[in-house]
This record gives sequence, C-alpha cells and structure tokens, in this order.
Amino acid sequence: MTPRRTFILLALVTLGAAVLAQSRARGDRHPAPPSPSGNIVVALCDGKTTAEIPGVKEGETPTLAQARDVADRLMTAWRQRNPVARWEDVPVRVAQAEQPGGATPGEAGGMPAGPPGDVQGGHTYGAFSERDQHIWAAETDKFVREGRRVFHDAKALGSTIAVSCDMCHPDGANTHPETYPKFQVQLGRVALLRDMINWCIQNPTRGKPLPEDDPRLKAIEAYILAQRKGTPLEYGKH
Ligand code: HEC
Repeated sequence: MTPRRTFILLALVTLGAAVLAQSRARGDRHPAPPSPSGNIVVALCDGKTTAEIPGVKEGETPTLAQARDVADRLMTAWRQRNPVARWEDVPVRVAQAEQPGGATPGEAGGMPAGPPGDVQGGHTYGAFSERDQHIWAAETDKFVREGRRVFHDAKALGSTIAVSCDMCHPDGANTHPETYPKFQVQLGRVALLRDMINWCIQNPTRGKPLPEDDPRLKAIEAYILAQRKGTPLEYGKH
C-alpha cells in the first residue's frame, strides 16, 4: 500500500470512530430546550413535545402529583399536536396480567399436588400433566406481573422525576407492540419494541436505558406483549 493510500485509510478510520463516539455520547435523548428558570423540562416519547415542571429545578425530584401533572400536560399537548392520531383512553385488551385480586391461574385454580421440590415433571412436546400446565401458566403470569409492577413504578424503572409509564399508558394502552419492528422517526432507525421502551425510559421518565439483559426490560416487554395479545395489526395506523 502506498503511503498516500495508508494515510487516506487511517483518516477514514479515525473519522468513523469519531462519528461513532459522538453518536454514543448523544444517546437516545431528544434535546429538550433547557428552561431559562432552571426547571426540569420533560421530553415526550414522540421526540418533539416538551413540558416544564414549575418550581422543580434540575436535580430535584418532583412529587407524585407534580409528575402526574406534567404527564397530563404532555399528553394534552401531544393530542393538540396530533388531532387525528388514535389514542385510546381505555385499555382495549386485558390479558393475564390483570387478574382480579392478583391471583395467578395456579393459585386460582388450585395447583394439583405433586412431589415436593418437583418443578416440572413432563416434557414440552411429550406427555405433560395438568400440573405442568399450571406451572407454565403461573410462571408466565409471574413474569408478566413483574413487568406490570415496573411499568407502574417510577422508582423500579429508574425514573429520576417520579413519572411512570402508566401515567400516559394506562394498562399498557397505546404501546402497539404488534407494530414492531418499525421505523421510528424519533430514533431515526428501525426499532424493536425494547428500543422504544428504552427510549421512553430515557425521555418522559428521565431514567437510564436498561441493558438488553436487564430483567426489568424483559419484564416490561413481556407485560406489554401479554397485555396487547391479539390486537389486530393495521399498517400505518400506529
Ligand atoms: C408523558 C406521557 C408518556 C409517558 C410517561 C410514557 N409514554 Fe410512551 N408514549 C407517549 C406518547 C404520546 C407516545 C406516542 C409518540 C409518537 O407520536 O410516536 C408514546 C409512545 C410509546 C410507544 C410506541 C407506541 C407506538 O405506537 O409504536 C411505546 C412502546 C411506549 N410509548 C412505551 C412507554 C414506556 C415503556 C414508558 C415508560 C418507561 C412510556 N411509554 C412512558 C406518552 C408517554
């Protein structure tokens, strides 16, 4: 390789690394203009709408009432900005995460007795007992309910401003998991459901993105998917 070519190659590699470092540093937060008063400015999941929390400075924690208030104002602003967007006020589909009284199918139906310490006796595609089915249902339900808890709990999510997902998505409404993967304009790329969950964690709830293998991220994903099971897919509508 001629020195000239080596130079060009090195220059390209350096440039590439710089661009990558810059995009990493920027992260997935959309730039919310800082408030002149130093109050917290919260950015919505859409990458456009922002709202201020009056009287609460950067670094301070709003009260639950202030968190609810900013979530409501963000949603009002979003609705005004998107008058034709469909946003359901009531959840359409209630799946296993929403058992009244919080009973698991296992508890509700009464788990058939098995040998102590026996987690699972049968085989998935072979013979399996009613007890196995109860265990599978109960385990799935436990996972989904953990996701429901995190979705509703600002602290568990790592929100720094007391805002939780349910303040805008009651019972997981309007999360449209059935539409993923899809190109998300606010991210500038094709997103998986978990990418969008992480984007929303960083923006309206002001938390840190969760690592791919974080049990909370998996549980939220499980909750959203379970909650919305069977929702028909309509391209371009969500
Ligand atoms: C302050 C209100 C608010 C909060 C809090 C909020 N969201 Fe959202 N979310 C929205 C709005 C509005 C949209 C629609 C954005 C758009 O126009 O793309 C949205 C979009 C989404 C989407 C994409 C839906 C689609 O149609 O593809 C997902 C998934 C989502 N939110 C999950 C979450 C999760 C998980 C949390 C908690 C970490 C959360 N949101 C917190 C308001 C909120």
